[in-house]
Amino acid sequence: MLDSIKQFLGEIEHFASHKKEEIEQFRIKFLSRKGIIPQLFEDFKQIPSEKKKEVGQILNTLKVKAQEKLDFLLQKTSENDEKSKLLDLTLPAESLNVGSRHPVSLIRNEMVEIFARLGFTVSEGPEIEDDWHVFSSLNFPENHPARDMQDTFFIEKNGDINDVLLRTHTSSVQIRTMEKQKPPIRIIMPGRVFRNEAISARSHCIFHQVEGLYIDKKVSFADLKQTLLYFAKEMFGEKTQIRLRPSFFPFTEPSAEMDISCNCNGKGCNLCKYTGWLEILGCGMVHPNVLENCGIDSKVYSGFAFGMGIERIALLKYHIKDIRLYFENDIRFLSQFR
Ligand code: DAH
Repeated sequence: MLDSIKQFLGEIEHFASHKKEEIEQFRIKFLSRKGIIPQLFEDFKQIPSEKKKEVGQILNTLKVKAQEKLDFLLQKTSENDEKSKLLDLTLPAESLNVGSRHPVSLIRNEMVEIFARLGFTVSEGPEIEDDWHVFSSLNFPENHPARDMQDTFFIEKNGDINDVLLRTHTSSVQIRTMEKQKPPIRIIMPGRVFRNEAISARSHCIFHQVEGLYIDKKVSFADLKQTLLYFAKEMFGEKTQIRLRPSFFPFTEPSAEMDISCNCNGKGCNLCKYTGWLEILGCGMVHPNVLENCGIDSKVYSGFAFGMGIERIALLKYHIKDIRLYFENDIRFLSQFR
C-alpha cells in the first residue's frame, strides 16, 4: 500500500492542465466519493496497527496534495477566463474622453493670434533671472521704492542670494530681446511670472503675463493707443471702448494704465465696482534709459510696451468668479472651456 501511495503522490505532483475537463477528470479520479483517495482510507482500516502511524501520515499528505493541486488548477483556469474576456476583440471599445485646454492657455493663444495679425511675433525668456534683466536694466534704481511693488523669490547661488531670482514680470524678455536684436522689433512675450505676496488665500505667487514691445523709428503714443484699441475690440468685442489713465512704471515715460468698458455699459455693476471700467493692463513709451541699456540709440529709435495678466483677461472674458478655480484642476470647471 505504501508503494502505491508514493506512486499516486508522484502522479499528483506532475499533473498539470489548463483544460477544465481534464481537471475534472483529476478530481473524479482522486477525490470523488468513489475516487482513489477515499478508497485508500477505506483500505487503511485493514492494515496492521503497527504500520498505521507511518501509512496514516503519508495518506494524509496525499489527500492534502491532491486538494491543493485541484484548487490551484481551478484558480488558474478562472484567471485565464478573465484574461480571455479582456482580449475579446468583439467587445465595444472603451470611450476616450477628449480633454480641453486650460482657460489661461486659451486666452494666451488668442492673444498671440490677435497680435500676430498686427505683425507681432512671439519671444520667450527664462523664468529664473538676474537682477539686471528684471529690475536694473528696466530703470529701477537700486533701493528705489518701485522695487517694493514686486517682491520676488531669491535663489541662493554660491552663497549669494541677491543676483538669482524668479522673474516678477515678463518685461525682462524685452531686455533679452533688445540685447540680441536690432530694431525694428515687434514682439509679444507670453510667460509665467512669480511674486512673493501670499497675503491672502486669494492671492497667488504664480501667474501669467503677456508683454508687448514695438521699437522702430517714429513710433508714437498714437501707435500704442491704436494697437491696444484693436486688441481690446478683438478680445472683448467690437463695441469695447478703452480709457488710458496716467500711471507710473520706471521703464516707460509717459506711462499709463488701460481700462476697457464694462459689459454693463456704464450702468454700474459688481464686476466694475460701479465705475463702468475694468483695468486690464499697464503700458507706455519705452524709457530712453531702457533703450540705451540695450545698446539702442534713443535719439533714433522710440517705441511702446505693454504688459497684462492672462488670468485677469480670462476672468473678465469668461466671467470667472474666483481665481482659485484656475489652480484647483476641477474637471467640472475645466471642461466648460471646450
Ligand atoms: N511689468 C508691469 C507689471 O508687471 C506691467 C507693465 C507695465 C509692462 C507697463 C509694460 C509696461 O511693458 O509698459 O506690473
